[in-house]
Amino acid sequence: MDNVVEMKNITKIFPGVVANDSVNFTLRKGEVHVLLGENGAGKTTLMNILYGLYTQTSGDIFLHGEKVDIKNPNVAIKHGIGMVHQHFMLVQPFTVTENIILGDEPMTGKIFVDINKARNNVKDISDKFGLEVNPDAKIANLSVGIQQRVEILKALYRGAEILILDEPTAVLTPQEIDELEEIINNLVKDGKSIILITHKLKEVMNMSDRITVIRRGKVIDTIATQGTDIDALAELMVGRKVDLHVDKKLKATGEVVLEVKDLKVADNRKIEAVKGVSFTVRTGEIFAIAGVDGNGQRELIEGITGLRPVKSGSVTFAGEDITKKNSRDIIELGMAHIPEDRQKRGLVMEHDLAENMILGYHYKEPFAKNRIMNYEKIHAHAKALIQEYDIRTPNENITAQSLSGGNQQKVILAREFHKDPILILAAQPTRGLDVGAIEFVHRKIVEARDNNKAVLLVSLELDEVLALADRIGVIYDGKIVGVLDAKDANERKLGAMMAGGKEFQ
Ligand SMILES: Nc1ncnc2c1ncn2[C@@H]1O[C@H](COP(=O)(O)OP(=O)(O)OP(=O)(O)O)[C@@H](O)[C@H]1O
Ligand SMILES: [Mg+2]
Repeated sequence: MDNVVEMKNITKIFPGVVANDSVNFTLRKGEVHVLLGENGAGKTTLMNILYGLYTQTSGDIFLHGEKVDIKNPNVAIKHGIGMVHQHFMLVQPFTVTENIILGDEPMTGKIFVDINKARNNVKDISDKFGLEVNPDAKIANLSVGIQQRVEILKALYRGAEILILDEPTAVLTPQEIDELEEIINNLVKDGKSIILITHKLKEVMNMSDRITVIRRGKVIDTIATQGTDIDALAELMVGRKVDLHVDKKLKATGEVVLEVKDLKVADNRKIEAVKGVSFTVRTGEIFAIAGVDGNGQRELIEGITGLRPVKSGSVTFAGEDITKKNSRDIIELGMAHIPEDRQKRGLVMEHDLAENMILGYHYKEPFAKNRIMNYEKIHAHAKALIQEYDIRTPNENITAQSLSGGNQQKVILAREFHKDPILILAAQPTRGLDVGAIEFVHRKIVEARDNNKAVLLVSLELDEVLALADRIGVIYDGKIVGVLDAKDANERKLGAMMAGGKEFQ
């Protein structure tokens, strides 16, 4: 069999962590190979080494049987390797074509960039693989799904034959995931080889030929997808059985703590994105907002949490009108927020974990008194949360940016749950988490509800909504088109409502 990539005995040591421990990995020509493993297992690190972003501490890489020294991404690109990162890196005010040719501009003569040639080239590649990207669109105006395709196009434009996709589906809607699968099929038909990282086991089963499972830096096994199933994979991954079924007792709800009334909020382009939304959340219940991405969820959350001005309508929380309050005052009243964009809103990336774990209450006792920080308490607090939430890190003194994506998410979850809030507003709380961590977070959410917290869950994952919610509001085109009791809801009904239909009879 034709191995296009062979990584032999790759070890990568960061201060205090062996991120990759003598890893052996091969990629065959024309296959889709999934890298599967817990948060912090070492998947992104291994791929960053293959793409020349990190240098291995020891071990060798062979491409088409030849030993290579991939010093930096330019060398990787020359060898035909492309990578789409977990958090992507496009220049927002530029067009698609401008982004794609950035750093690799085709010239007419010595001075002028031949933008027309580039544009046509981009269009050809897009057509060939069914990417459906408009070369002239501005990045800032594109959905996350399309932005991701721009990243794929960029790699293909540079001649990628080997494509690394790091959690591409974490940010996609179910329909976009189907489309990505189609694109991957087209790439493979053309002889390209794909390395795919994903935590979604259904996709692993649908999309891959082989799977390499990594646990705590070590390869556990490489297996053919055909011979396995979802339960076996979950167990291989985390080393124990995983139960994604959530046991929920019936429970009486208490008083209304959040009331949103006829709320209207505009988006960045000043177009109304939330068009008169009303709902209530009581203590002891999980109210979920289900919907396809981009139907006003983001603006709704930002309007409630004081991060975006409200056009009209009102939000009442814990008996106070918070429509015009800023986020600090709202947090102060007892609202915890797990934001969708963990790097922008949830963490200070260059600060250490101990500091990140007290963000939002860092000025209060026991962490501070008369403006003097109590570092002993701050560190003890961080240590306890690292333990409880199984955050994979050598200690609490490293920066948030050196944590794996999923572990960054766990830091936010730990901090927000620990605030002992009245209401938890959780947006995409399990995005990027491994199945073991999802199981844990789901239990935490239900436990919070059982302890009479109110939970407002905003999720694109129908499975998650159905597993957790007591009531479900479906949002479509900036409006709540219906509210269902969990016992009356199912995937088909919700799907129809989310697509803009009235309630399915
Ligand atoms: N730049 C860095 N500096 C220090 N430690 C790092 C750095 N990058 C990664 N690590 C550590 O290496 C280990 C592996 O991280 P990696 O990002 O490869 O995990 P992952 O398998 O991609 O996890 P996830 O599913 O959460 O994305 C983690 O313990 C992480 O903290
Ligand atoms: Mg990763």
